[in-house]
Amino acid sequence: MGRALASCGVPRDRLFLTTKVNFPSYDAAQEVVEASLRKLQTDYIDLMLLHWPFGNYYAAWRVLEKCLEQGKIRAIGISNFDPDRMVDLIQFNKVAPAVNQIEMNLLCQRKAERRWMEKYNVAAMAYAPLGQGKKNEMFENPALREIAAAHEKTPAQIALGFLVQSGAVVIPKSTHENRIRENAAIFDFTLSAAEMEQLAAMDTASPMVGTAENPETVEIAMTW
Ligand SMILES: NC(=O)c1ccc[n+]([C@@H]2O[C@H](COP(=O)([O-])OP(=O)(O)OC[C@H]3O[C@@H](n4cnc5c(N)ncnc54)[C@H](OP(=O)(O)O)[C@@H]3O)[C@@H](O)[C@H]2O)c1
Repeated sequence: MGRALASCGVPRDRLFLTTKVNFPSYDAAQEVVEASLRKLQTDYIDLMLLHWPFGNYYAAWRVLEKCLEQGKIRAIGISNFDPDRMVDLIQFNKVAPAVNQIEMNLLCQRKAERRWMEKYNVAAMAYAPLGQGKKNEMFENPALREIAAAHEKTPAQIALGFLVQSGAVVIPKSTHENRIRENAAIFDFTLSAAEMEQLAAMDTASPMVGTAENPETVEIAMTW
């Protein structure tokens, strides 16, 4: 990534670089930040996240707070934090997270979690906004297809537009140029209140990756 950034010709201030500290490295968070700066060939990271609320994440958060003060990082955030862990982190530290990056898509809308993020002014960032290619049945939903046809958009664009219009940040991923373009072309339509309601009804409130509060997720994470 560092080599690509160095040769792409885009000025640094036109890029937004996000990376994270993985939970097995929390005791070495300072080294992770320094290594990320080195590898990305940059003198600041725009957003640095803690991956999961497992292990020594308070120690890692305090390292990120220091790096923020030193200007090595512009914003710090968390990922996969359920509301209880998020509120606890906020109560016992100086800096509140700017962002919580969690699984969020039409089938897993995180309505309860988002109310807590709004209360504490933590931006919601959606990973798996398209279900990681494992939930493609969502694109066959008749209401979604009808809304997509009405706006002359693809179901994937409506799925992303729904999240953006609800106030979330989306980070879709694709290995195909045409889809990268498709996923970026979502700012030229507005869903009506009735359409937003129809799409909100697709929620099954069940994350595929799991939640941090579930002990099985913690056990599985140890094998990643
Ligand atoms: N913090 C965390 O714990 C965490 C966990 C998971 C992911 N993430 C991050 O989240 C970001 C999003 O990636 P993601 O893997 O979660 O998945 P995603 O964006 O929901 O899904 C990617 C999948 O959707 C397909 N796709 C992309 N555009 C499409 C379109 N327009 N129509 C239909 N299918 C489309 C892709 O296939 P093609 O490549 O074939 O187009 C790929 O299989 C990444 O930056 C990732 O690093 C973070």
